[in-house]
Amino acid sequence: MILVTGGAGFIGANFVLDWLARSDEPVLNLDKLTYAGNLENLAPLQGDARHVFVQGDIGDAPLLERLLAQHRPRAVVNFAAESHVDRSIHGPEDFIQTNVVGTMRLLQGVRAYWQTLPESERADFRFLHVSTDEVYGSLSPTDPAFTENNKLEPNSPYSASKAASDHLVRAWLHTYGLPVLTTNCSNNYGPLHFPEKLIPLIIVNALAGKPLPVYGDGLQVRDWLYVKDHCSAIRRVLAAGRVGEIYNVGGWNEKPNIEIVKTICSLLDELRPRSDGGSYQTQITYVQDRPGHDRRYAIDASKIERELGWKPAETFATGIRKTVQWYLENQAWVTHVQSGAYREWVQTNYADR
Ligand code: NAD
Ligand code: TYD
Repeated sequence: MILVTGGAGFIGANFVLDWLARSDEPVLNLDKLTYAGNLENLAPLQGDARHVFVQGDIGDAPLLERLLAQHRPRAVVNFAAESHVDRSIHGPEDFIQTNVVGTMRLLQGVRAYWQTLPESERADFRFLHVSTDEVYGSLSPTDPAFTENNKLEPNSPYSASKAASDHLVRAWLHTYGLPVLTTNCSNNYGPLHFPEKLIPLIIVNALAGKPLPVYGDGLQVRDWLYVKDHCSAIRRVLAAGRVGEIYNVGGWNEKPNIEIVKTICSLLDELRPRSDGGSYQTQITYVQDRPGHDRRYAIDASKIERELGWKPAETFATGIRKTVQWYLENQAWVTHVQSGAYREWVQTNYADR
């Protein structure tokens, strides 16, 4: 079996669902169920013996020791993290606790278990760490896209904590020989995306008749990767990646934020026209910028294509249409995640902008 951490969150849940749709190898899913973790994401697996869910913290060393000894996974895929830049600006503490201290404890627990394995299993074992392009810092409009050789120059508390975890993963290979792999991917989007992030927030606000908040001038650029493509990249790296290597994963879809927002508005105008006949674009509202806002991220994903033959299957046009359709068809999921805690966050982040 494999151990997946953070498998009740956005990418982790997509990964677990896709994994079990393709293979009968069981998944042990360890997730703390923070505000971002949601068992409803895993509802299709209810009663499925191949999925073992445990609510717990990657930083809980005794729990890890017990779980690893009991389930004996052949690999770990580490998604568990605090993941939202704006939240890291309002409160960095949890980011250091989970992304840095938690990753260190997970590495320690996994190392202790890995050392007990028979030699052949030890050689085949893998620890795959899921990271972000944000660790590389910000690009100017003319800079080449990030490659795996870029320096780590993180600018937000979130990206600094992820860069720290990337360094720890590297150190556990060099110091202890733990067979690690790291993926650094661009902005994901797709089903099950919590509506604190740009794309689901815009869809949800548009449908609710609320303002569509665009930070600053809206010309910040991100590369967008459909979440199912990210999941296929992780499966590929886990199966064939070279130990110790970093693989950048991207969608070859660099776009300014304002273009993303306008594309969503056009799709909604087509699929769910407003009752007054107006365009959702009239709800766009420019608001105060994010402090330290990185101007541009871009991923050069040619190494994973060259070495492992992986390429994204979706273009942005196909992926964003599927995403908007998913939100239109899953209004109950949206309503459930917009709990009291979500409303408090909206107040914290947007009231004074
Ligand atoms: P998410 O915030 O949706 O989910 C994170 C999950 O981790 C949640 O289920 C949460 O309950 C769990 N978790 C948090 N702290 C934990 C802890 N201490 N122990 C166990 N579980 C814990 O995040 P996501 O968007 O699914 O991102 C998953 C991973 O991918 C993260 O490591 C993130 O840094 C990375 N990543 C995300 C993106 C993106 O666009 N979303 C892009 C690049 C990299
Ligand atoms: P986000 O989805 O938070 O991802 P990240 O900060 O990790 O890239 O934001 C994507 C981009 O959208 C980023 O440049 C910030 C911007 N943004 C807005 O303009 N308005 C919003 O309400 C949010 C949440 C993000």
